[in-house]
Amino acid sequence: MSNPATTDLTGKTAIISGAAGGIGRATALLMARRGACVVVADVKPEVQATAELIEADGGRAMAVQTDCATDAGVARIVKTALEAFGGIDILFANAGITGGMVPRLDTASDSFMEVLRINLLGPWIAVRECLPHMKAGGAIVLTASVAGLRAGAGPIPYSASKAGVISLVQTTAMALTGQGIRINGVAPGLIETPMTAPLFDDARATGREGKIGQLNPTRRGGEAEEIAQTVAFLASDAASYVNGQVLAVDGGLSAQHPFTPKWSI
Ligand SMILES: NC(=O)c1ccc[n+]([C@@H]2O[C@H](COP(=O)([O-])OP(=O)(O)OC[C@H]3O[C@@H](n4cnc5c(N)ncnc54)[C@H](O)[C@@H]3O)[C@@H](O)[C@H]2O)c1
Repeated sequence: MSNPATTDLTGKTAIISGAAGGIGRATALLMARRGACVVVADVKPEVQATAELIEADGGRAMAVQTDCATDAGVARIVKTALEAFGGIDILFANAGITGGMVPRLDTASDSFMEVLRINLLGPWIAVRECLPHMKAGGAIVLTASVAGLRAGAGPIPYSASKAGVISLVQTTAMALTGQGIRINGVAPGLIETPMTAPLFDDARATGREGKIGQLNPTRRGGEAEEIAQTVAFLASDAASYVNGQVLAVDGGLSAQHPFTPKWSI
């Protein structure tokens, strides 16, 4: 086991999907700052700006604009990592969509399947295609959600897809037994990113900003950098004995039952 205490990522190459903004971009910037060469991928052209930000910060990055939930798209990302940086040590499969913000009982089959394709099949394709190039010491992190733990934090297909991601972490960890490659997940709570911007903007515009995060004991929403810190840790050698876990980073939201506190009755 190489230096188990370090969060330094020098000499490692990381692939990060969903990196045009939000959690993916924050994680790419942090991993690059810790020394990793980063391949950032996203369906949006803004992914190029993420690579430019990293380069301007003194890091090394390549951008791939593609659909990360297709075999061909992931093949392009893997090829870029191998050709530009010579290997793959870290995969952060993070691209995702909500498919709408409210639970509906009339979701059409194609809408349901599109959420599963991007949120669940996408990470699976990335895992499958990166693994043959990863050596012992490699680390994979998938983005789940508190919506995958139980109801109340997202629409039905979204929650089902993220529950699937949690299972993907557990089952893949077991399938990787003895190979020295770890896989973990992060389950963010409510984080301010382009995905949740309408909610935060609306709360601010209507003077309800103080209500954001009111259901968690930390009493606020989270920032993309707070998820990035967890992901960078899980991807590093400092997390060498953390495997098959999905860590909720949600201000404590998922630690509690929805009981009315005694002092507010
Ligand atoms: N923001 C939150 O509160 C929150 C909470 C729990 C989980 N998450 C998860 O975190 C991840 C990152 O989301 P975010 O909050 O940073 O929002 P975001 O919208 O900024 O990031 C998601 C990114 O994924 C990209 N993407 C979507 N479909 C894609 C595809 N087919 N191929 C390539 N890229 C694609 C988007 O273009 C976007 O840049 C998502 O998986 C999301 O479900 C977010």
